[in-house]
Amino acid sequence: MHLLDGKATSEEIKRELALAVQERKRNGKKIPHLAAILVGNDGGSLTYVNAKVKACEQIGFESTLIKYDESVPEEILLAKVQTLNDDKSVDGFIVQLPLPKHIDELKITQAIDPRKDVDGFHPVNLGNMILNISGFLPATPAGIVELLKRNNIETEGKNCVIIGRSNIVGQPLSILLAQNTNPGNCTVTLTHSKTKNLKGICKAADILVAAIGRPGFVTEDMVKEGAVVIDVGTTRVIDDSRARGWYLSGDVDFEKVAPKCSYITPVPGGVGPMTIASLMINTLKAMELKGK
Ligand code: GUN
Repeated sequence: MHLLDGKATSEEIKRELALAVQERKRNGKKIPHLAAILVGNDGGSLTYVNAKVKACEQIGFESTLIKYDESVPEEILLAKVQTLNDDKSVDGFIVQLPLPKHIDELKITQAIDPRKDVDGFHPVNLGNMILNISGFLPATPAGIVELLKRNNIETEGKNCVIIGRSNIVGQPLSILLAQNTNPGNCTVTLTHSKTKNLKGICKAADILVAAIGRPGFVTEDMVKEGAVVIDVGTTRVIDDSRARGWYLSGDVDFEKVAPKCSYITPVPGGVGPMTIASLMINTLKAMELKGK
């Protein structure tokens, strides 16, 4: 069993991006600037957004964090999105999800200028992705593909099973891995809450991706010997025995499943850091697409 070390791979990508920033500086070019909007006090979202800001500092990007109270009206958020669309100093920005229930996530996502949509959630970018036209790929699926690529994991002709059909992970990943690309050319099965015989389907997977946010959902009896297992889950589980009162759990029962795998991602340190690295790649791209 080999660990698919997303942290190490993401550090490698960040070093490459830092060199690109230094090169831009030497040539008197603008430094990429990422802005992030965070609404409310969800601990997980706060951790992710802080990690994104920290990655910007590490690479040498500019960053701006905009925080709103949980009760912020939708119109205020829409107005801020418009301001960031118009702000020439900002190259790309994200609105951290999930948003409070009174805010329509789709409306917010659609209001973002696709040229600054470094999360790749806007319908224009999702459409480009389906047609394999250059644009911004959603960060988590792109991070998973990059992790497979940089670790030389063969995907062509493999059976890939994805658990979870979310707009930001399962659905876009199913498209990327089925494309005639490398990594890609998988035969993809996208499973969900209505799937019958989930265990049997998972057991046939050469590459199994779990993205449902249910701690320990994937058990050893669902995994084929030698499979590649990608765990996208990052759920905070309450645990009073720990100093901070919780631990981060993936969707895979790691202890039992890992010995059966050829490769497996840990949680934390697997897909999470790769998501951030992809966002940084997209931010540099946003800057370059402006021709600056
Ligand atoms: N929430 C979970 N993953 C993501 C992500 O990649 N981007 C944003 N904006 N919110 C998220």
